[in-house]
Amino acid sequence: MFETLPALAPDPILGLSAAFKQDTNPAKIDLGVGVYKDEDGNTPILKAVAKAQAILQETETSKVYITPQGVQGFIDGMLGLILGKASPVILENRVAAVQAPGGCGALRILAELLKRCNPDTKVWVSDPTWANHIPLIGNAGLELATYPYFDKSSASIKFDEMMECLAQVKKGDVVLLHGCCHNPTGADLTNEQWRAVAELANKVGFLPFIDVAYQGFGVGLEEDAYGIRLMVESVPEVIIAASCSKNFGLYRERVGLAALICNDSATRNIVQSQIQYVARGIYSMPPSYGGALVDIILANDDLNSLWQDEVTEMRERMIQLRALLVDNLAKQGASKDFGFINQQKGMFSFLCIKPEQVQKLRAESSVYFVDSSRVNIAGINTKNVETLAAAIAGVL
Ligand code: LMR
Repeated sequence: MFETLPALAPDPILGLSAAFKQDTNPAKIDLGVGVYKDEDGNTPILKAVAKAQAILQETETSKVYITPQGVQGFIDGMLGLILGKASPVILENRVAAVQAPGGCGALRILAELLKRCNPDTKVWVSDPTWANHIPLIGNAGLELATYPYFDKSSASIKFDEMMECLAQVKKGDVVLLHGCCHNPTGADLTNEQWRAVAELANKVGFLPFIDVAYQGFGVGLEEDAYGIRLMVESVPEVIIAASCSKNFGLYRERVGLAALICNDSATRNIVQSQIQYVARGIYSMPPSYGGALVDIILANDDLNSLWQDEVTEMRERMIQLRALLVDNLAKQGASKDFGFINQQKGMFSFLCIKPEQVQKLRAESSVYFVDSSRVNIAGINTKNVETLAAAIAGVL
């Protein structure tokens, strides 16, 4: 049976970690997978998470199944964080939501639900988008198409072309938007551009599907939610996939949220039964542990404020690293102006160099990042930035 299967190439993002581990060059630099790292290249457990673990250890009395939707406190806390605690859609009981195994799990069950709504649903994703959006949504059997988003030659968003394309999509098509800190480009819509997209969604009748995996890493926890909150206020139906991997540092726990804003409360109850049915048919119910930690952090004022400080620290460090990289590239006499890196947001930047140049950096200088030229800014530190900038300047 299995001989029918061809071997597949390593995953374009996760495959880099394996290649990096095997590289024996002591000066190797890892800017591949989107994981936050400190100055020493470590990804420590957040202090708020460690404290929540201690609380959970004391208070958890059973390992019996949790409810099919997941940890209810987690769902409520996350909806408050993303939509704002006083969001009318929460107060009107218009949000169906389940805890999901990571942002990936959320994306996948939402795609499965869209398939149940209409098997011919077409999902528009930005060009480029996060590589894993394609299998997560496509493997649910949905048709995918791309809308123009980022222009590598000017390192900026092609907003007019994006809007022209989205004006032509069919009523009922789905448009995937990145809530903040666009992965892979780091180029985010301005608030004004979000308003234009929301207006267009209503005019054309497309369904906004927002993936938010980096809330707090762009400008701030509240500011980064602007686009989502605006969309939810202005468009009757919106779907949201959220991840706690990055901003809670809960990568391996797989904690995410799938939420669907419905027209009214009666529809919400139907949709809630459907999304739980979809999840039951794939993994039954989500693992409780990570969701329970997020619940504890968001519900406890002290832990919440400790966590917010830690998010601020991670964000501010990445902003400083952007400036450090830009300065060092200039000092190394790079034949290209990389000033745009300072305008981009979150964990990633597109260096806008060619795949051959990225491959040369990997082969000759042991600098690892995705062929698209996406770099994980958090992998930079004061010890490697000079070597990195020299290597990049060298391949231009
Ligand atoms: C990334 O984009 O590097 C992360 O979200 C990790 C992943 O699963 O691809």
